[in-house]
Amino acid sequence: MSLNNRLPWNTAWITGAGRGIGAELTRLLCSHGVTVYGSARTTEQLHQLQQELSNTTGKLIPVPLDIRDPDAVQQLFIEWDRQNFMPDLVVLNAGSHDPFSAYEFSAQRCKDLLDINLQGTINCLDPVLYRYLHRSEYGPDYGPDYGPDYGPEDKSESGSERQPETLKAVSLNPVAKRTLTGTRQIAVVSSSAGYRGLPTAAAYGAGKAALINLCESLRLDLQGSGVKLQLINPGFVRTPLTDKNEFSMPALMEPDEAARRIVKGLLSDRFEIVFPRRFVYLLKLFRLLPYNVYFWLIGKATGASKDE
Ligand SMILES: NC(=O)c1ccc[n+]([C@@H]2O[C@H](COP(=O)([O-])OP(=O)(O)OC[C@H]3O[C@@H](n4cnc5c(N)ncnc54)[C@H](OP(=O)(O)O)[C@@H]3O)[C@@H](O)[C@H]2O)c1
Repeated sequence: MSLNNRLPWNTAWITGAGRGIGAELTRLLCSHGVTVYGSARTTEQLHQLQQELSNTTGKLIPVPLDIRDPDAVQQLFIEWDRQNFMPDLVVLNAGSHDPFSAYEFSAQRCKDLLDINLQGTINCLDPVLYRYLHRSEYGPDYGPDYGPDYGPEDKSESGSERQPETLKAVSLNPVAKRTLTGTRQIAVVSSSAGYRGLPTAAAYGAGKAALINLCESLRLDLQGSGVKLQLINPGFVRTPLTDKNEFSMPALMEPDEAARRIVKGLLSDRFEIVFPRRFVYLLKLFRLLPYNVYFWLIGKATGASKDE
């Protein structure tokens, strides 16, 4: 798939941009002129990627962040408010996995995973939805150097008098009219593992299933608002996260191809973006199976039924 056309976003915020799918998406967007604000906890990975992308037409601006910390997420947006900035595209991709079976079940391990995959994503959705739906300040009155920079190159409006102390201090408008390019687009990365229960994935699958339901619900609420919300449900993609898997992963996709599929999906009007299609469609079909057939099939396919 080629991406010959100019992309409709000037700026994007991607969580989990330090490696894996988020890093590949950052590479692709930067190579098409997008300024990407990339978040992750590991600052070195963000800086390495920034260096790698220094010759692209876009650029990566590292915004280190732990999405489990709601105050830190809110602070980032207060800083962006101060600089009259809001990204055109938001991709909430950060996530983790910790496979464990019923024999190792632990409330703490469930919480640790859900804190990132579910609550962390919610922490990010909160300030984004608030601004996309209630703020109208983000107009096209920006010069070519739109968006805040961090560090010595900072060209932001330091003279601006509008420096809200708290989110509640900023003025509300019932319907935001525009962001930088008029685009207000959010994509949430869940997983096809959220469709039905899979072995050793009780906590991972539960979090991803919750994200799917959450996005379906928000999508209905957002009808007519001008905010485009999409759900990304990948199958297996080769990343540091799946490198830990000891089983053979069917239809494993390379991350650069996954990034291309994501961008193609973001450019479409589809609510759900899935890849590799044949594998994910098969999992979708499995949702229709009665439990006894489903458990038998998955048990056979994964070896989980060997002890029965
Ligand atoms: N790979 C697959 O086969 C696959 C399949 C379906 C869905 N997914 C989903 O796709 C997304 C990306 O997965 P991936 O395979 O690219 O994983 P990955 O290679 O492990 O990358 C995950 C990224 O998320 C960041 N992250 C993790 N916890 C974070 C936190 N608390 N705050 C901020 N950033 C955090 C990581 O950086 P730090 O650790 O430095 O924070 C890293 O940059 C995840 O949501 C995953 O569930 C992946």
